Amino acid sequence: TDPLLLLAIETTCDETGAAVLEGPRPPAVGVPRVRSSVVASQVDLHDRFGGVVPEIASREHVRQLLPIVDEALRRAGVTLGEIGAVAVATRPGLVGSLVVGLTAAKTLALALGVPLVAVDHLEAHLYACQLAEPDREVYPCVGLVVSGGHTSLFECRGPIEAGLRGGTIDDAAGEAFDKVAGLLGLGYPGGPGVERAARSGNPKAYEFPRAFLRDDRIAFSFSGLKTAVLYAIRGQDSRGRAGSDPGIPAPEVVADLAASFQEAVVDVLVAKCRQALKQTGLARLGIGGGVAANGRFRDRISAMAAEEGVALFVPPMSLCTDNAAMLGVAFPKLAAGQVADLDVDVTAGLVR
Ligand code: KG4
Ligand code: ZN
Repeated sequence: TDPLLLLAIETTCDETGAAVLEGPRPPAVGVPRVRSSVVASQVDLHDRFGGVVPEIASREHVRQLLPIVDEALRRAGVTLGEIGAVAVATRPGLVGSLVVGLTAAKTLALALGVPLVAVDHLEAHLYACQLAEPDREVYPCVGLVVSGGHTSLFECRGPIEAGLRGGTIDDAAGEAFDKVAGLLGLGYPGGPGVERAARSGNPKAYEFPRAFLRDDRIAFSFSGLKTAVLYAIRGQDSRGRAGSDPGIPAPEVVADLAASFQEAVVDVLVAKCRQALKQTGLARLGIGGGVAANGRFRDRISAMAAEEGVALFVPPMSLCTDNAAMLGVAFPKLAAGQVADLDVDVTAGLVR
């Protein structure tokens, strides 16, 4: 039978994404193929603020979304009339940004008379593992989403059955990279700059905190680590002078600070994945989110997976950072009959 063409829209944070996927018509089940995926990044608009400014993000989504949808259709060689379903990420994310994508998706679904699928952005991040390797079974797995907005570990019984095992109680790991990069003058987003600086540094130069490392709970905390880097820059203990501007240290010091910070983050990410694998007894590990770009993290998580005899799934970078193709998780949702009503709303936080 003829395949189903799905238009996916992603506007949870600061990337505007649209994609066209082709997959089995429900109730048939199968991994869809990505026909096109277009992402407009707003990084240049937010970098002078050192983080995402929600109001700017929403306005930019309004400006970018329809051209991006057009471009995704054009690259897929598909007309709007051929689209048989619309998927949109409705949670979690910035409310103003989510609303832009959802309003567009509802309008298109209503006008085309096709089903609307509301997707969880984090389930989508993990489904990227399955899109990248359609011939390997990814689920059930432990899933780690590690990005600028999220650091969450899931027990995924299936693509649309992600149960939260634990997450960060304060900053996300990527956010910590961004903030530390700010302290070290390494630009925004901070991950790539910190990683580059860390290459010539000594990861043992500073002994930074590793929150919850010896705790059975699956939880993360990175704000104390960021503060520890700040105090190290000031060259004094945690009673450091209030309000003093430490300035940016010399390059050798920046390299050591970056390497020591990165090692602390990677240590806890790897340890918590190992712990979640042991607790759940699962033998597969899927990773999603922009921090998966980090080379040191990739090396260490691969080594851990090999040691534990666990199959590791890390999608290519274009599928790790925010994109609409990963909303292909809408196919298993459709197969399960999970179509959204047109009065579906967005949700800012993690809800399960
Ligand atoms: O998934 P993503 O593109 O956007 C969301 O936050 O949803 O992730 C962006 C985050 C930023 O915080 C960025 O600093 C981090 O991923 N990142 C990295 C690296 N590349 C990007 N963190 C560590 N090392 C990297 N090489
Ligand atoms: Zn994301």
